[in-house]
Amino acid sequence: MSDLRPIGPPKSREFDDLYFSADDGLAESKFVFLDGNNLPENWRNAERFVICETGFGTGLNFLSAWKLFEETTEPHQSLDFISFEKYPLQGEEIGMYLQPWREFFGDRLQQLLAHYPFGIPGFHRVVLNERVTLTLIIDDVNVAIPKLIADVDAWFLDGFKPATNPDMWSDTVIENMARLSRKGTRLATFTAAGKVRRNLIAAGFSIEKVTGFGRKRDMMIGCFTGDEA
Ligand SMILES: C[S@@+](CC[C@H](N)C(=O)[O-])C[C@H]1O[C@@H](n2cnc3c(N)ncnc32)[C@H](O)[C@@H]1O
Repeated sequence: MSDLRPIGPPKSREFDDLYFSADDGLAESKFVFLDGNNLPENWRNAERFVICETGFGTGLNFLSAWKLFEETTEPHQSLDFISFEKYPLQGEEIGMYLQPWREFFGDRLQQLLAHYPFGIPGFHRVVLNERVTLTLIIDDVNVAIPKLIADVDAWFLDGFKPATNPDMWSDTVIENMARLSRKGTRLATFTAAGKVRRNLIAAGFSIEKVTGFGRKRDMMIGCFTGDEA
């Protein structure tokens, strides 16, 4: 793969959106999803920490979380990362788009690609090492999330923008987020769309609008309280 040159983030024509920031995808991933969920503080005392993401895409958020987890936790702690993806990229595409951060991620990118399930629908549980497990769910999130059983500690909401990809922000997704959360479960997302905010609040999340990454004016972070509006 060393002959493949970085070509910027992939863009979805169907959803008219980029997979991550063209300015700096890695910095965006940290700013929105890791800092937005107060990581690493939030997993400091967890034996097992569960992150659930909507929209695996290139796996950039997963790799960022995996690296930070290993750098900031003790050997007895483990990370369970769950992610949904209806339109999986090919492993070779992921390698190409994440090429700029290959060194930064060390051998994690190669490990991910070695186990990456090529588009076969269903739940794929990938044990990357004794501390880190990825459950990649190749399906429409609306079909798969009602089947999920998990105790989620943090949500990464990373569909394409709600205006063009409403399925990723549906009532089904948000109702199931509430089902899978406990009091104190956090969420972060790049969007500040009013409809998403109202639906999250109605499902029992307290939501804060905060400054967004780069040129984005704002984004949302939140916490599950269980107090339905
Ligand atoms: C903004 S991109 C995610 C970027 C990703 N988190 C990353 O680190 O590269 C949104 C993702 O949502 C996926 N997606 C869109 N609609 C979906 C649906 N209904 N169910 C599951 N995944 C969907 C897209 O294929 C795309 O990979």
